[in-house]
Amino acid sequence: MKTLYVELGDRRYPIYIGPALLDQGDLLRGHIAGRQVLVVSNETVAPLYLERVRAALGGFMHETLVLPDGEQYKTLAVLDQIFTALLSHRFDRNCTLVALGGGVIGDMVGFAAACYQRGVHFIQIPTTLLAQVDSSVGGKTAVNHALGKNMIGVFHQPSCVLADTDTLASLPERELSAGLAEVIKYGLIRDLRFLEWLEANIERLLDRDAAALTEAIQCSCRNKAEIVAADERETGERALLNLGHTFGHAIETGLGYGTWLHGEAVATGISLAADLSARQGWLNEAQVERVRAVLARARLPLNLSQQMTADDFLRLMAVDKKVKDGRLRLILLRDLGQGVIADDVNPQLLRDTLEGKR
Ligand code: NAD
Ligand code: GLY
Repeated sequence: MKTLYVELGDRRYPIYIGPALLDQGDLLRGHIAGRQVLVVSNETVAPLYLERVRAALGGFMHETLVLPDGEQYKTLAVLDQIFTALLSHRFDRNCTLVALGGGVIGDMVGFAAACYQRGVHFIQIPTTLLAQVDSSVGGKTAVNHALGKNMIGVFHQPSCVLADTDTLASLPERELSAGLAEVIKYGLIRDLRFLEWLEANIERLLDRDAAALTEAIQCSCRNKAEIVAADERETGERALLNLGHTFGHAIETGLGYGTWLHGEAVATGISLAADLSARQGWLNEAQVERVRAVLARARLPLNLSQQMTADDFLRLMAVDKKVKDGRLRLILLRDLGQGVIADDVNPQLLRDTLEGKR
């Protein structure tokens, strides 16, 4: 097992990465505050892993809640089910919530923990690659609104992240690829050596080679932990983690939540960001091709849906958390391995990118 830390002073917490962690009950129990535990999962993950988490809890008094599965259920209405469970079981302010699942469960349980009685403890047990490399770390929690993705949420850090790499064995191929989009993101924004490693090892990752997956998860979490420690509430460099996301969120909202997976939308968004970076004069054509090639080799979609016009994109992209004083800010690439926050993007170049102009 490898342990990394998110260094946030007295809120410092560990990220445990390794096989068979679900069966190491001491790890989980060591981070539970109080005596009351609510484990929240979904109808896909619960049959696979919930019993093992329950066994790991040993003598802790615990309740379970199984939510419907899907991005379309990441809503305030479904969140209310968590509050109902907590209240009906008389959970107090010293309780702990456990999120067992992918990013949807993690984001919702974190949000519920932040709000319940003005804030209780929570633990992340991420079971998708995307959640193990990104969403379980850093304390961003949210639900979607019909008018905008992740628009309602707060920052609330977990007590620990327990990433059992064995859980990835049951992940559908499409979900594995979606997670790779966020992995590739770290290489592009700040870690050229990691990007080169990914280019050399992408097939091993797709084949679920355990050593390769562990290396990719560790390297991603190391990058994320460093960024979060430096800029927890995204006043600066944390925004780089949103490479491809403003375009991607527009795709997710525009096509309907769950139509494209988050990682798929981000991959297309990264490809658009690379294209726009070239139009800005920062990347050359060979570099744009290199970005597209590594994403394509990860079996990610790179082409825009014909269902969305440039005007659709621009309308949806205006509803983004990076918009500041009405001004769109995009994460672009000054070079491979060097992300940049661009707040003065030429609107015509942006439109050319969205229209796929050569
Ligand atoms: P997800 O949570 O919907 O999980 C993907 C699918 O895999 C679901 O059907 C789920 O039930 C299933 N699944 C999960 N673990 C499994 C396993 N081990 N075996 C078989 N099936 C399994 O999606 P995701 O890609 O994990 O997360 C995407 C969400 O994360 C989005 O809502 C996105 O906005 C959010 N996100 C948040 C952050 C953050 O910093 N908080 C960062 C990135 C993404
Ligand atoms: N996934 C973006 C962030 O955590 O900031």
